[in-house]
Amino acid sequence: MNIEPSVPKTIAGLMNCAEWQAVLDAWKRGTAPDAEGYVQAFSPLCAPERQTFVGQLGQSIDGRIATATGDSFYINCQEALDHLHCLRALCDAVVVGVGTVVADNPQLTVRRVPGESASRVIIDPNGRIPKDACLLHDEAAPTIVLTRDRVTLDLPAHVEVRRLPEADDGRLCCHAIAEALSDFKRILIEGGACTVSRFIDCGLLDRLHVMVAPLIIGAGPTGIQLPPLDKLSEAHRPMAAMHQLGTDWLLDLDLKQELPH
Ligand SMILES: NC(=O)c1ccc[n+]([C@@H]2O[C@H](COP(=O)([O-])OP(=O)(O)OC[C@H]3O[C@@H](n4cnc5c(N)ncnc54)[C@H](OP(=O)(O)O)[C@@H]3O)[C@@H](O)[C@H]2O)c1
Repeated sequence: MNIEPSVPKTIAGLMNCAEWQAVLDAWKRGTAPDAEGYVQAFSPLCAPERQTFVGQLGQSIDGRIATATGDSFYINCQEALDHLHCLRALCDAVVVGVGTVVADNPQLTVRRVPGESASRVIIDPNGRIPKDACLLHDEAAPTIVLTRDRVTLDLPAHVEVRRLPEADDGRLCCHAIAEALSDFKRILIEGGACTVSRFIDCGLLDRLHVMVAPLIIGAGPTGIQLPPLDKLSEAHRPMAAMHQLGTDWLLDLDLKQELPH
């Protein structure tokens, strides 16, 4: 007979299953989790007073999210991947740009930690989503495609389509996207670079979780691309908390609180 006590699986290297369950319980009650340190990274998603947007990026120390040929599996360590699944479990909707679906064919479900999968939202203004994309067919969570007026889409019947008018620059305005998702309160902007950058640029992100791996890629797409600035004093300098997740570092950036320059 095995009389060894079972060792709880560590989530993100910084909490055990009981601590994660306490976060989920706080989330269900709509209160902030009663703990310090890493767990506080989840507070904005546990007790949001209004629609709340959290972006995430997994990157190398030189800010890259893939090689020049698009290889991106995996930049981050297992603990950082746990963290991403924790974010998904605490959100009502997980949003990606169609570029991520084309490149990665992701499921966007919660698989690494206890918790329920959020609705999956794909921003696809030109109807580019591959017909055989896994998330269109697995029915693992509700799936919504955001597109423009007059774009023809041929999608399975269970996939919801929401149409938005395009802005003057031909894009979908991020504020209009937020309005189209007003039935969701906690929204994870999971990627890729273009999508996260547009939400930063329009000032909609409340938090950005950047997971930095000790990896030097040297060339390839960077995670954040914004219009050029003349002066450093114009740059965002958000308040930041830092937590070590395995071999990676999580920077939990509060984009609503800037540090003085
Ligand atoms: N490391 C990470 O954390 C992470 C996470 C996710 C993805 N990725 C990587 O990121 C790469 C993909 O990123 P990406 O920047 O190329 O693509 P992306 O952000 O996934 O998708 C960009 C596309 O989505 C549409 N889109 C997004 N926001 C829009 C808006 N506001 N208005 C109109 N259209 C909008 C546009 O489609 P149209 O082109 O049709 O106009 C745009 O070109 C892949 O290599 C993937 O592996 C990395």
